[in-house]
Parts: sequence; C-alpha cells; structure tokens
Amino acid sequence: MYILITGGTSGLGFYTAMTLAEDQNNKILLIGSNKVKGVKAVEEIIKKTKNKKIKYLEGDLSSIKQISMIAKDLIKEKFDILINNAGALYFSRMESIDKIEKTFALNHLSYFALTNLLLQNKNIKRGGRIINVASGAHKGIDIDFEDLETKKNYNGWFVYKKSKLCNILFTRKLSKFTSDKNITVNCLHPGFVKTEFGKNNSGILGLIIKLLMNLFAIKLEEGAKTIIYLVNSNEVNEVTGKYFYKSQIIEPSSFAQNQKSADRLWNESVKILKNKGLTL
Ligand SMILES: NC(=O)c1ccc[n+]([C@@H]2O[C@H](COP(=O)([O-])OP(=O)(O)OC[C@H]3O[C@@H](n4cnc5c(N)ncnc54)[C@H](OP(=O)(O)O)[C@@H]3O)[C@@H](O)[C@H]2O)c1
Repeated sequence: MYILITGGTSGLGFYTAMTLAEDQNNKILLIGSNKVKGVKAVEEIIKKTKNKKIKYLEGDLSSIKQISMIAKDLIKEKFDILINNAGALYFSRMESIDKIEKTFALNHLSYFALTNLLLQNKNIKRGGRIINVASGAHKGIDIDFEDLETKKNYNGWFVYKKSKLCNILFTRKLSKFTSDKNITVNCLHPGFVKTEFGKNNSGILGLIIKLLMNLFAIKLEEGAKTIIYLVNSNEVNEVTGKYFYKSQIIEPSSFAQNQKSADRLWNESVKILKNKGLTL
C-alpha cells in the first residue's frame, strides 16, 4: 500500500509509519514542517525496518500556500491511505502566515484543504481510506461560528478541543461525498499518549503537559493501535463516517453529531480558504 501520513515525523505519526514500514510492500510518505526531524525520521525507519520506500516531504501545513504546493508535488501520486495526523496545541494565540488562528489552521484547515485537493486531483485510489486523527478532547465543547478563529477570550486548551471537534464533523460530512468513489473516511481518539505533543509551548503550561504525560500517558504502541487498525483491518472495509477508540466504533459527543454544524463548518472552511486564495 502507498500511505501518506501528515505529521509522520514524531509521536503517533512516526510510530505508525515505523510499524507500517515493517511490511515491505508498504511505501510511505511523511509530511512535517521541520526538515531535520523529517530526514532523521526517514533514516530511523529505514534503518530499523530495512524498508527503503520511505520518503519525506517538507511542508508547513498551517500555510495554505504550502498545502497547495504539497498537492502540486503529489499530483502524479496514487495513495491507498491518507492519514491526517499533524496537529498541535498553542497555549498562546498565534496566527498562521495567512493570518488565521494557528490551531484552527493546522488542526482543521490542513485536514480539510489537503484532503479535498487530493480527492479533486484523484490522488486517492478507489477503495482507499482516509483516517483523521481526532481526540476525545472534542467532548464538552461546541463551535462558536461567530468567532471561529477565537479572536475573543483565547484559551489554548478550549481552542484545541474545538479543533478536534472539527475533525469529527469533517469526517462525517466528507464521508457522504466519498462513498461514490468507494473511499472510506473515519476518525479516532488514540488515547492520552506520550508524544512530543505540547512541547512547542514554553513556560509552566508546557511543563504541566510534560509532567502529565510522564505520569498518565500510554505508550506510543498502544496509542497507534487504532490508527493501524483503521489502515489494515478488513473489518472496516465498508465502514465510513465513524469515530473509533480502542479499535471500536464509539459515539462522539452530541455536538460532534450535529449535521447543521458539520454543514456550516464545511461551508465556512470553503469560504475562509477562498478568501485566502484557495478555491476548492
Ligand atoms: N498525544 C496525545 O495524547 C493525543 C491525544 C489525542 C489526539 N492526539 C492527536 O494526535 C495527532 C498527533 O499528535 P502527537 O501527539 O503525535 O504529537 P507530536 O509528537 O507533537 O507530533 C506532531 C506531528 O505533527 C507535525 N506538525 C506540527 N506542526 C506542523 C505543521 N505546521 N506542518 C506540518 N506538520 C506539523 C510534527 O512535525 P514537525 O514538528 O516537523 O512539523 C509532528 O510530526 C494530533 O492531531 C493530536 O491532536 C494526540
């Protein structure tokens, strides 16, 4: 299989790539913004698995221009699997190069724009699978469409939670468009996993995440299980639009099942991208 993993250079994405590379039939492309990290990740995977079909593509997925450039670079590729996984938490409000709140830009708009571009360009094969790494953190919050980019009262954790809610709403809506192409779309919660997550934040909050991870987080091996299950299992051949945890379908929050929110998020995302020069 040919597998594209965004954020495949550390944490869950890296561990997933390493595991999938054990199968010598798999060819894997990792995307990340830090080239040094990306090159090292590829070297490590090749060294450990002896699978030489591992490549890295540099790109900042919070940038709309760079997402478009990535899609252009991939114009001739045919993927069996797309894993949208790149994500981050920003305790202080930051904006992407396009002046979009950065959590929303990276955690939601990158999934939305890259997937739509790859589908339009027919880069995902019939029978392919799209897997969106969401989170149980989506619970207990709804989207405020009047302030999608949280210009008021920014709280990094709540903004992260909303971005993960977006992943589930996007999965449900997208699955309606891809069934005629015989492509499934599912999302998942990996659990609280010890990764590099949150380490981009300095100060006390960054330290708290590190401490919590050391105390309570599960190993990468456990956290990546559901992603790998969604890549490999025949049990999910026909399953689409669902949210998984521990390799089982579970119900996301009621906000994540709100069709009106899913429709509105889709329309607003198209509008924001169009305003920034990307017409889908
Ligand atoms: N860890 C958890 O407990 C947990 C729980 C639930 C859900 N998740 C989700 O799991 C996913 C992976 O997170 P992780 O925990 O594995 O974190 P991680 O170790 O920090 O990995 C994040 C990955 O995303 C890439 N990335 C970050 N910013 C990027 C950008 N602007 N452009 C391109 N790539 C970028 C990073 O590569 P570069 O640094 O090279 O850019 C890295 O490969 C996220 O979507 C997160 O929300 C994690």
